[in-house]
Amino acid sequence: MSTDVDPQVLLSIRNLNKSFGGLKVTDGVTMDLRAGLVTTLVGPNGAGKTTLFNQITGHLAPDSGDILWQGRSVLGRSHYAIARMGVARTFQDLRLFDQMTVEDNLLTVMEPSAWVWQRGGRAGAHARRDRAAQILNKTGLADAAKVRAVELAYAERKFLSLARIMAADAKIWLLDEPASGLDRGSYKLFLELLRGAVGSGVTVCIIEHNLDIVLSVSDRIAFLDRGKLLADGDPATILKDPHLAAIYFGEQTEAAS
Ligand SMILES: Nc1ncnc2c1ncn2[C@@H]1O[C@H](COP(=O)(O)OP(=O)(O)O)[C@@H](O)[C@H]1O
Ligand SMILES: [Mg+2]
Repeated sequence: MSTDVDPQVLLSIRNLNKSFGGLKVTDGVTMDLRAGLVTTLVGPNGAGKTTLFNQITGHLAPDSGDILWQGRSVLGRSHYAIARMGVARTFQDLRLFDQMTVEDNLLTVMEPSAWVWQRGGRAGAHARRDRAAQILNKTGLADAAKVRAVELAYAERKFLSLARIMAADAKIWLLDEPASGLDRGSYKLFLELLRGAVGSGVTVCIIEHNLDIVLSVSDRIAFLDRGKLLADGDPATILKDPHLAAIYFGEQTEAAS
């Protein structure tokens, strides 16, 4: 096997394993996130999707296996070191700075992540504010710039978590159920922002349940069940697979009953 790094593979997960007590939550997962593509992680609740993100971002240490960022292992690095390399994420539970204003939520993300802002002095501060204003415009939050995050409506909080990831100027976005609970109008804006990011060169891995969204954004689908990667490839093929559909829809039927 060649040891050359494929420049198209930004992030490579190699035979990753993680258990909690007796429960195997990541079971020999091997997959790549390829530059410029949207890879969607699907699978029933409890499949281990968020846990996989936690390991990629350094919030959780795997038991074994490796995670390579542009060919170099990130194991043992802190979550903030990994974020600085260009791996940004959103959380299922958002984790905003609730007592800060919407604008400050963005400014804080820009400070550590982007050396380009560190021109120092007024020019730097000005550039940061301009950039924050642009992002707030795009995400429909301009009027809420001075509002504390805790006071926002649900959809606005979801968009603030996206705005924060936009502000971080990362190479790869890991989005944990960013569209869950959004109404149709908000979906449209969400999809627009996602397409804009991909168009400007961001690589995306998204955990998503809504099939319309999955079909409309995915270049690849990775299907996880009980910690195992059951399939990884072309969306049409994967979504047509009756075995996977049974797992996926079986879970949704259980949830509805
Ligand atoms: N810190 C933890 N300690 C123990 N069990 C955990 C922990 N985090 C997640 N789990 C368990 O791991 C499994 C996978 O969880 P998770 O990755 O959140 O699934 P998903 O995001 O696919 O719904 C679940 O059974 C969950 O209860
Ligand atoms: Mg989850």
